[in-house]
Amino acid sequence: MAVTIKTAEEINKMRIAGRLAADVLDMIGEHVKIGVSTEELDTICHDYIVNAQQAIPAPLNYHGFPKSICTSVNHQVCHGIPGGKKLKNGDIINIDITVIKDGFHGDTSRMFIVGEGSILTRRLIDITRQAMWKGIEMVKPGVHIGDIGHAIQTLVESSGYSVVREYCGHGIGREFHEDPQILHYGTPGNGLTLQAGMCFTIEPMVNAGKRQIKLLPDKWTVVTKDRKPSAQWEHTLAVTEDGFEVFTLGAEERS
Ligand code: MF3
Ligand code: CO
Ligand code: CO
Repeated sequence: MAVTIKTAEEINKMRIAGRLAADVLDMIGEHVKIGVSTEELDTICHDYIVNAQQAIPAPLNYHGFPKSICTSVNHQVCHGIPGGKKLKNGDIINIDITVIKDGFHGDTSRMFIVGEGSILTRRLIDITRQAMWKGIEMVKPGVHIGDIGHAIQTLVESSGYSVVREYCGHGIGREFHEDPQILHYGTPGNGLTLQAGMCFTIEPMVNAGKRQIKLLPDKWTVVTKDRKPSAQWEHTLAVTEDGFEVFTLGAEERS
């Protein structure tokens, strides 16, 4: 599929969808606590998206995904399926929200700590967030996709962590996953040149241990092979004439 360049009108719809996805994460934060199950978090998000936002939870039935959000706990890297297991003190969880509003997608994820996090998990979460922002701050017309990946990879590896290579950021718009692929590792100057109007996600998955992963028999949940924890943050953004615009900033990031 070709890379689409969004018109001003389409960018505005992306802005609205992105804001709604961020609002879901702002809403769910207070529910992430000891004893809650990821299935309960899914239900709360589903109802909020469908009823309060009058939007569509994009993951539900996407290539057969059975729930409305992805919840990836501890050594789960991404695409965790909400279930009956309850969160316990010290767990870390990525909640990944994608909504469709007026035909356009907004896709964003954050890490939450349940109760008290360890020094290691707090640092992992922090470095991963910094890595996402390093990637975002590279974005402007003329920059190559490899420049984004290189910035992310450099910070992650110099911190002693590893970048997952099998999953990447993606173009986004009328489709959930469009071209181009945004790799979270790379070589400066390599890959597609960015142009104003392109919209994509940056969503690095960072492992505390080795980068190798495996897929669970449910065919969705991705876990680290060494069972060490993994973190991920995700924003949806556009390339503007002189830089970038992030559509999925949360209330805290907007203030
Ligand atoms: N939201 C994920 C992403 O960032 C994709 C989830 S696909 C699903 O691209 F089917 F697992 F929901
Ligand atoms: Co995404
Ligand atoms: Co996502």
